[in-house]
Amino acid sequence: MSVTANQMSSSALATPMTAAELKLLQTLVYQECGMHFDERRTHFLQDRLYRRLKECQLDSFYSYYRLLISDEGKAELSRLLENLTVNETSFFRNKAQLDLFHKFVLDDILHKKQARRDYSLKVWSAGCSTGQEPYTLAMLIADALAYYCLRNSLPLSETPPRPLIPPPWHLEILASDISYSVLRAGQEAAYSEVQMQSVDYSYRLRYFDKVGDHYAVKKAVKELVHFDFHNLKTEYLPQHNDVIFCRNVMMYFDEPEQKRLIDKFYRCLNAEGFLFVGHAESLLGLTERFAMVHRQNGTAYQRIEVSD
Ligand SMILES: C[S@@+](CC[C@H](N)C(=O)[O-])C[C@H]1O[C@@H](n2cnc3c(N)ncnc32)[C@H](O)[C@@H]1O
Repeated sequence: MSVTANQMSSSALATPMTAAELKLLQTLVYQECGMHFDERRTHFLQDRLYRRLKECQLDSFYSYYRLLISDEGKAELSRLLENLTVNETSFFRNKAQLDLFHKFVLDDILHKKQARRDYSLKVWSAGCSTGQEPYTLAMLIADALAYYCLRNSLPLSETPPRPLIPPPWHLEILASDISYSVLRAGQEAAYSEVQMQSVDYSYRLRYFDKVGDHYAVKKAVKELVHFDFHNLKTEYLPQHNDVIFCRNVMMYFDEPEQKRLIDKFYRCLNAEGFLFVGHAESLLGLTERFAMVHRQNGTAYQRIEVSD
């Protein structure tokens, strides 16, 4: 007998979740993506699991668990993980920290690289959500590089249009996430007036086009950012980064997983590279391999090099 949508929703809601099923699903989610749902967040997890159960038209959470661990269940597993992520983000989030990046960290990196005649710059936004963070970084770095060249009397291209990144410098920003839907939004790079609230007019004028009621990131900025799927739970993560931004992601992991992630970031950074975490996050007590850099309310962590 077929079940109507209404009947399904009420029957799914009526489906009880046993403590054992909850534990199984909690453990599976943790193993797959590192997200830890403690007592404060169990309600959220249960709510999302109910929704997925209803969508899959299954009659028990154990059947849903069996689906998730099967080969046919891979797509459903990604859908569940997407439903569990918190994707809140904004342009120019945590101004003090970005000032530290822009005025101190970048300057330090550019000077050291120039002395070695290494003109490549690699920045990774890990857990980039809908793209506001990597595009903010692209705009800040473009400005910082132009100003660096001006200040140090390095030639800027005479012939317009001037490239956003003055040669011989080369910038690559990797923007990664576990959710395909946020990665698609980042690639689309069209933002509403509400999402643009924290973008001042000088940035809007230089780096966006107005298309209908949205602001579209200009092609030259988009070309600096490459979006890709990466699950921070896995061992194989992008290497050779000068800077990693992983803000407001670790807060959803438990302490052992945070420690593992920090160790992975250490290996993913170049010597003396920098790691930025969210305002409510800290590396304190989690590692001895990074030194804290603190300026005017902005905090970053620099890789400590050990001589052998
Ligand atoms: C709250 S947003 C933070 C966005 C941005 N970093 C910021 O601070 O504005 C957290 C992002 O981390 C992503 N995320 C959560 N767990 C992840 C994992 N295991 N691997 C990769 N990304 C993950 C989520 O999908 C989400 O887009």
